[in-house]
Amino acid sequence: MRIDVLTLFPEACEPFFDASVLGRAREAGLVTIECHNIRDYTKDPHRKVDDRPFGGGPGMVMMCQPVLDAVAAVEGLDKTPATRVLLCPQGERLTQKVAAKLAECDRLILIAGHYEGFDERIRLLLAPREISIGDYVLSGGEAAAMVVVDAVVRLRPGALGHKDSPLEESFSVRSDGPGDADTWLEYPHYTRPREYQGLSVPDVLLSGDHARVRAWRLAEAKRRTAQRRPDLLRDETSEG
Ligand code: ADE
Repeated sequence: MRIDVLTLFPEACEPFFDASVLGRAREAGLVTIECHNIRDYTKDPHRKVDDRPFGGGPGMVMMCQPVLDAVAAVEGLDKTPATRVLLCPQGERLTQKVAAKLAECDRLILIAGHYEGFDERIRLLLAPREISIGDYVLSGGEAAAMVVVDAVVRLRPGALGHKDSPLEESFSVRSDGPGDADTWLEYPHYTRPREYQGLSVPDVLLSGDHARVRAWRLAEAKRRTAQRRPDLLRDETSEG
């Protein structure tokens, strides 16, 4: 899989892509991630990438030319067709299902904006998939791009040590989940020591009885979901 991230702040993203699961996935050759500075593509003599909005109003708007030229140049670096993703608060909400769909792509181009947003013609000309990581406004799309890359890459085969681990966690798509949402929050985990500050590991986890452990985990996952995210149980048509 190849991921190109177009941003005004590649230096903010690069260290994140070098660490932990992402860093190991890159080292193992499971994914290529490259960051590109949109400013390198501007034809403005002052290296501008944004301008005031027509019609007035606060803030600045990302201009067409630098973004569209950056996308064209970066797409040309590899002949694999790319799925274009624009990070913005108006986009489709990122869920585990959306991440799983993106993880099926051979190539992603993520476009992180800054300022008030993008000139609308960028949307019209690129027809990107638009993704929001939540109902709040960030000062730029970089953090959102990092979230998307993390959520996607860890789903690629081999990215996590244990082949089953992405299936066992909260928001994984699973066959025994409730309705269409197919998701529950994850059950509680424990590791050594068996007792810490008077708190003991539940006996069932020490029993060695795998069927009982599975049943306990399932019951705990349902209980937690009902307590913390009843919307996941009620709204069976929601995206997981
Ligand atoms: N850019 C600014 N806010 C954002 C959000 N919530 N999701 C994705 N991109 C953004």
